[in-house]
Amino acid sequence: MRVGVIGLGPQGRRVVRVLSEMPQLELAAVVDRDEEALSTLALPASATRHRCAEEFWERGGCDLICIATNGPSHAALALEAMDAGARFVMVEKPMACTVADCERMRDEAIRRGVRLAVDHSRRHDPLYRWLRDQIRSGIWGEPRSVWMQQPGIGLGCRGTHAIDLVRFLTDSDVRSVTAWIDEPRGENPRGGEFVDPGGLLVLDMTQGLRGVICQIEDGAGPISVEIDLTACRIRLDERFGTVEIIERDLAVQPGPGRPPAYRSISAPDGYRAQLDMFQMVRGLLEELISDAPLECDSEHGIETIRVLVAAYISEQKEHSPVALASLSESERELLLSVT
Ligand SMILES: NC(=O)c1ccc[n+]([C@@H]2O[C@H](COP(=O)([O-])OP(=O)(O)OC[C@H]3O[C@@H](n4cnc5c(N)ncnc54)[C@H](O)[C@@H]3O)[C@@H](O)[C@H]2O)c1
Repeated sequence: MRVGVIGLGPQGRRVVRVLSEMPQLELAAVVDRDEEALSTLALPASATRHRCAEEFWERGGCDLICIATNGPSHAALALEAMDAGARFVMVEKPMACTVADCERMRDEAIRRGVRLAVDHSRRHDPLYRWLRDQIRSGIWGEPRSVWMQQPGIGLGCRGTHAIDLVRFLTDSDVRSVTAWIDEPRGENPRGGEFVDPGGLLVLDMTQGLRGVICQIEDGAGPISVEIDLTACRIRLDERFGTVEIIERDLAVQPGPGRPPAYRSISAPDGYRAQLDMFQMVRGLLEELISDAPLECDSEHGIETIRVLVAAYISEQKEHSPVALASLSESERELLLSVT
C-alpha cells in the first residue's frame, strides 16, 4: 500500500522511520511546507517531495495518509486526503482545534467508508494495554480515582494524552469538567502562533470515577499516573520506567488485630512504563490497515477535544463545572490554537 506523510517535524520523521520497517507499506510521498524539513530527509528513490499538499493531491494522493503537521491544519488536510481518495487516514493528536472540525472529520470518514485513526499513542503501549485489560477484567475492583501529573506544554499537546489515557484505562467517559487554565509561561516551542498553557482539570466521570489532570507548563519532575481502585492502587512513572501495583485482599475485613491485607505484584516481564514512540506508531499503523476495530478511533479523538474545550469554558465561567453534553453550537466552534 502506498503511503504519504504530511509534516516532517520530529513526529513525522518517526512515522517515516516506522514505515521504512513495514514492508507492506511503501512510502510514496512526503509533504512539508518547510524546505529544509523537506530536503534533509533521506527517502526511498521512488518517493516524491512536495512543498504543499495541493501539489500532492493533484498527483493522485495515496491510499494511506499520515498527517503529522500542527493541530490547526489537521482537519483540512484529513478532509482533503479523503477527497483525494485516501482509504486510510492517520492524524496526530490533537485531532483538530475545534469540536466541530473533529465531528466533520468523523462524519466524512463514515460517509466515505474511510478508516480514520487519531494517534493517542499510549493506547498502543504494551504496559498501558495490560493495565487496561486488568482493570476491565474487574479483578482489581472498581476504579475510583485517577491522577495524572505532567510537566511541559501544554493542555492541548501533552494534556490531551492524559485526557485520553484516563478514559482508556478505565473505560469511563467524562461527564463534566471543572478547570483552571494557566496563563502561558512563554512562547510555544512549535511557534508563536500556538497558545497552549497548562492547567488543572477535575473530571467527573461515569461509574462514579473522578479524574485529576495537572499540566504544569514550567514544572519539573516525572510524568506520573496514580490509579486508585477499590482493590488496588497503581503508581506509574514514565520518566523512570517504574510501575508499582499494590493489591488489597477484600476478603480480609479489617478489625481489631486484623489489619487490611496488601500485596505488591509485578507487571509481566518486559513491560516497563517507558514509552517506545516507534513501537506505538507501528501498533497504530498495523491496526489501521487491518480489519480490526480501531483502538484509536475518531470518537476518542473527538471526546478528548470536547473535554479540552469544556475546560476552557469552565475557566471562562469562573471554574464552574461544564457538562460535555451541554456544549452549544458556538462552543463546539471554539478554536484553540493548540498542536
Ligand atoms: N502521538 C504522539 O505521541 C506525538 C508525539 C509528538 C508529536 N505529536 C503530534 O504530532 C504533530 C507534529 O509534531 P512535531 O513535534 O513534529 O511538530 P513540528 O512543529 O516540529 O513539525 C510540524 C511540521 O509540519 C510542517 N507543517 C505544518 N503545517 C503544514 C502544512 N499545512 N502543510 C505542510 N507542512 C506543514 C511544519 O513545517 C513542520 O515541519 C503535532 O500535532 C504533535 O502534537 C504526537
